[in-house]
Amino acid sequence: MSPLLVTRTLPEDATDAALRADVLSGLTARPKWLPPKWFYDARGSELFEQITELPEYYPTRAEREILATRSGEIAAASGARTLVELGSGSSEKTRFLLDALAPSAYVPVDVSETALTQAGKALVEDRPDLEVHALIADFTAPLTLPATPGPRLLAFLGGTIGNLLPDERAKFLASVRSLLAPGDGLLLGTDLVKDEGVLVRAYDDAAGVTAAFNKNVLAVVDRELGADFDPGAFDHVALWNAEHEWIEMRLRSRVAQTVKVPALDLAVDFAAGEELRTEVSAKFRKEGVTGELASAGLELTHWWTDGQDRFALSLSVVR
Ligand code: SAH
Ligand code: AVI
Repeated sequence: MSPLLVTRTLPEDATDAALRADVLSGLTARPKWLPPKWFYDARGSELFEQITELPEYYPTRAEREILATRSGEIAAASGARTLVELGSGSSEKTRFLLDALAPSAYVPVDVSETALTQAGKALVEDRPDLEVHALIADFTAPLTLPATPGPRLLAFLGGTIGNLLPDERAKFLASVRSLLAPGDGLLLGTDLVKDEGVLVRAYDDAAGVTAAFNKNVLAVVDRELGADFDPGAFDHVALWNAEHEWIEMRLRSRVAQTVKVPALDLAVDFAAGEELRTEVSAKFRKEGVTGELASAGLELTHWWTDGQDRFALSLSVVR
């Protein structure tokens, strides 16, 4: 069995500094916001996995359907010997790609150390010949990939690209393009625009799992920065922004309150009803995806959707 290699490309204190910087700028802004990458401590990653099983949350099932039926075509079009996956989480759906591609190396990249190591350990046990080189890294920062055989297929699944704002997406796609050489490819999962009710229910499930996931960011700030957020003093909000075609998750303060963040020497006032934006989840159309890829110098060559046209996987192969 090949060993699981784990590389942390961010020093521990860089993560801490990044959290401090984000909390300071986000909680002193109007309206207040926090970036979604801070949801994913061990509990947040576990809650996300529970979300993927909810009856209302269709994206994981829709993307799994595409991967289950199209991985052979994806492998034939890509011919990759290394599969790199950004925001890999549990790597559960990735198994279809690994089966079809049979690459020599798999490079999962994630900020969640627990998700990465759990997934990596399971993979090296099941696939003794696969080199798994996990990177604990922020995919919005410059990445250095390990020296593994080319061509590479870089997968970004789950619709996670929708959690970046449009200017962040442009920057991200340009940096992805700069990682790719001729013969390499990008496999991108995008959730598609659809009925508002279906979308809102996917982010406001009856069992309250998404609400717990949303509030988990407050628990992360409490633990890491000694803040005194009371998650019970906030309500989960999920709404459709028709102008931007994205879902917004927010936390609405139930009462007027002041939250202290001792590590930043900060006191943050919330008015009753004031909202803190914690995530956008953009939904896409084929023209938009094609255009955003083209702006980054990537040509969309394949487009696959599930049977109900809820979710798309696109492939761009670099010539
Ligand atoms: N790809 C998986 C997981 C999606 S959840 C799926 O389709 O089911 C989003 C994943 O991206 C989480 O595992 C989270 O930890 C990771 N993530 C979020 N922001 C990140 C960032 N800036 N850099 C690296 N990983 C990130
Ligand atoms: C990871 N990402 C694509 C999920 C999404 O659907 O935007 C995160 C999530 N937020 C709430 N539910 C799931």
